[in-house]
Amino acid sequence: MDQFVISGGARLNGRLTIKGSKNAALPLMAAALLTDKPLLLNDVPDLADIRNMVRLLEQLGCQVDFAPPPDASFAGGKMVIHSQDESASHAKYDIVKTMRASICTLGPMLARRGFARVSMPGGCAIGDRPVDLHLHGLRGLGAEIQLHQGDIVARVPGGKGGRLKGGRIFLGGPFGSTVLGTANVMSAATLAGGQTMIECAACEPEIVDLAKMLNAMGARIRGAGSPRIIIDGVETLKGTEHAVIPDRIEAGTYMIAAAATNGDVTLDNCPMDAMIATCDALSRVGVILSEEKSAPTAGRDLMRTTVRVTCSRLLRPIEVTTQPHPGFPTDVQAQLVALLTMAEGNSVVTERIYPERFLHVAELGRMGAKVLRQGPTAIITGVKRLVGAPVMASDLRASACLIIAGLAAEGTTTVSRVYHLDRGYERMEERLRMLGADIQRVSEKQAAPSEAVAV
Ligand code: EPU
Repeated sequence: MDQFVISGGARLNGRLTIKGSKNAALPLMAAALLTDKPLLLNDVPDLADIRNMVRLLEQLGCQVDFAPPPDASFAGGKMVIHSQDESASHAKYDIVKTMRASICTLGPMLARRGFARVSMPGGCAIGDRPVDLHLHGLRGLGAEIQLHQGDIVARVPGGKGGRLKGGRIFLGGPFGSTVLGTANVMSAATLAGGQTMIECAACEPEIVDLAKMLNAMGARIRGAGSPRIIIDGVETLKGTEHAVIPDRIEAGTYMIAAAATNGDVTLDNCPMDAMIATCDALSRVGVILSEEKSAPTAGRDLMRTTVRVTCSRLLRPIEVTTQPHPGFPTDVQAQLVALLTMAEGNSVVTERIYPERFLHVAELGRMGAKVLRQGPTAIITGVKRLVGAPVMASDLRASACLIIAGLAAEGTTTVSRVYHLDRGYERMEERLRMLGADIQRVSEKQAAPSEAVAV
């Protein structure tokens, strides 16, 4: 297992290109199961989750060629996916257990092949994460679904020659809509007979990107990005070429890292149009975001802008609640908490998507942060400085939070279990070094004995 050793205190300075989005790329890749023609994806990030999805698609009868980006400065690599053996329709536990997003193969496989068997994903460090809404949505399209030996077994009535049937489907749950559930039902409905209307659909930019690609494959989808998506089913879909949108969570993470170190960082390929709540929260803290506006407004792609991130000396405390898009994203909550530990006064952060997603709080405490957790809320009292310590990453975004804290802290921080981080951030240590950070990846065996002890 690897760990990061960070000598805190260096101001981040320089320029970085934001990578293609992990959470957009995963359902796009799964959508290759909707056609027997090749799909070409550009700007695919090279991440553990992406490689796991490649293994899964291979298990499901696809041929996948991935040319990763040559170095850390590119937006991503090129991937060609060609679904060839449609009889291989069992997504097995050995891969599904490594990545919950495996569930987004269910809808495409069922719609195209008439049958799909996908191991039921379990919970994870950030909460229970059920898939009842996915199943409810697919049943609304006429699928017959049973659980068998820990697998979801789904069939279209009539089997291979049969077809799902369009319907009106409500996808709201106790915490709002579901992002991958919307991706699953929307993808499946593209090949259903008649019209499907998804109500309370997720409005996330990753859903808009998926709808855009599906339409380029011949689907007829309207309304993606709003709570009502209308899909007119078609008989078949063809292949296409599509560039994955930039990663709004990676962009938010580097913005916060720049601010936490009082740095000056310019981000290219930044999806500002998808980051309104993150930018609003950071502005309230005192982060200065200046968008480069050389092109005329009409010709600018607001999903691929250039933004300079600087910071006022004093960080102000704020109140933030995570919400479905366009609200403040849960995937940036932990990183924001790291920044707020250094603000002047009390901040309040409430988590409304995954109320248990606070595993970073205790680790931040080891670095001198003052955070009081009350149910889904963290009350953060700013301190003058954080101090380096050995800490342990527990999930993807908590890892990013601890790295940000380590970059800003006095002294040395060792973040262990960075395999969580590698699921969602490509070569983060190299990219931070490009900005002047003092950060090394070492294997736990290489580390000094005192640093190798888990805390
Ligand atoms: N939910 C249900 N039933 C369902 C599905 C979801 O009750 O059938 C609940 C969840 O428990 C949660 C809420 O609804 O409280 C939202 O979950 P959602 O289904 O939207 O999450 P997801 O689609 O499984 C994606 C991202 C997550 C991100 C969430 C929320 C991918 C691969 N994952 O998950 O990303 O936190 O949306 O925005 O797109 C991450 O990248 O670190 C990450 C966890």
